[in-house]
Amino acid sequence: MDTSALRAKFLGAAAAASDEAALEEVRLAALGKKGEISALMASLGKMEPEERKAAGALLNILRDEIDSALRAKKAALGDAALDARLKSEWLDVTMPARPRRIGTIHPVSQVMEELTAIFADMGFAVAEGPQVETDWYNFDALNIPPEHPARQEHDTFFMHRDAGDDRPPHVLRTHTSPVQIRAMTEKGAPIRVIAPGRVYRMDMDQTHTPMVHQVEGLAIGKDISMANLKWVLEEFCRAFFEVDKVELRFRASHFPFTEPSAEVDIRYSNVGGQLRIGEGDKWMEILGSGMVHPKVLAAAGVDPTEYQGFAFGMGIDRLAMLKYGIPDLRAFFDGDLRWLRHYGFAALDMPDLAGGLSA
Ligand code: DAH
Repeated sequence: MDTSALRAKFLGAAAAASDEAALEEVRLAALGKKGEISALMASLGKMEPEERKAAGALLNILRDEIDSALRAKKAALGDAALDARLKSEWLDVTMPARPRRIGTIHPVSQVMEELTAIFADMGFAVAEGPQVETDWYNFDALNIPPEHPARQEHDTFFMHRDAGDDRPPHVLRTHTSPVQIRAMTEKGAPIRVIAPGRVYRMDMDQTHTPMVHQVEGLAIGKDISMANLKWVLEEFCRAFFEVDKVELRFRASHFPFTEPSAEVDIRYSNVGGQLRIGEGDKWMEILGSGMVHPKVLAAAGVDPTEYQGFAFGMGIDRLAMLKYGIPDLRAFFDGDLRWLRHYGFAALDMPDLAGGLSA
């Protein structure tokens, strides 16, 4: 029996099959129940034993050869199909992404990040307190007892109370100063913190909104003086306004929670609506400050015979207006997207001292 013609025929057909269906046809024609090889196998029974032995061996070899050729071809076809799929589903990961608006950072948030970076550099940590505050933290602990006239000046929002409610009265905090008390009570002395956040007063006109942002500063130690306060504030203004020349004016003032107290003005000029810090003959008030009153230290559990220090409170919105030339305070809180796109800052662009604050 000569199997070489069959071998050539089926191996050739297997090699030529262009897809799995064609390959299956080749398999059926050779090895299927009615295939040529199977038919030859079936005819072995009619042969003489010697002849059967020789022919059977040849057919077995041929069947195995064709079988493995079919399997190899099937695997190759599978690989080719996968290659084709990978090609058609190819994704160019180096292609630039479609630009998508993710909004801008509000100038107030930007300024908060900037001043946090500056004060962190001077060793101040960030402290927080609640916006709904008890009147004890907001007033009493800061040396503003119930009948003190300063309570009226604060135009306070009082939280509603049902008759018979005996919880302590709550207010929307009118300043960030209560965070001084919370920070000292929690951490003790010595301490150096700033506390940026929202404060509320019943006030609404061209230059006032019922909610504004303040940052409180507090530094308590054994020998902290008014001179340290002056240096810290000048250093802050230089870094914040990014000018070498800043001039501050300390004016004697009065706050119940500091003694002595000073309000601080910054020199600026207004040339055709453009504000410039450090030159000109105008002064703008930017903060209140002083040496923390012994009663305030005592209310927060700090011994005033051992510790002393300074505190200050600054308006953040005004700082933002001054630095970035924003004329109207009320626009800060209108939520007008056009305003935000104009005055906002790139998201993901964190201010830090080394990289330039507002770069
Ligand atoms: N709490 C004051 C206010 O809102 C600002 C202030 C003044 C804060 C003097 C201080 C300070 O810490 O020492 O009007």
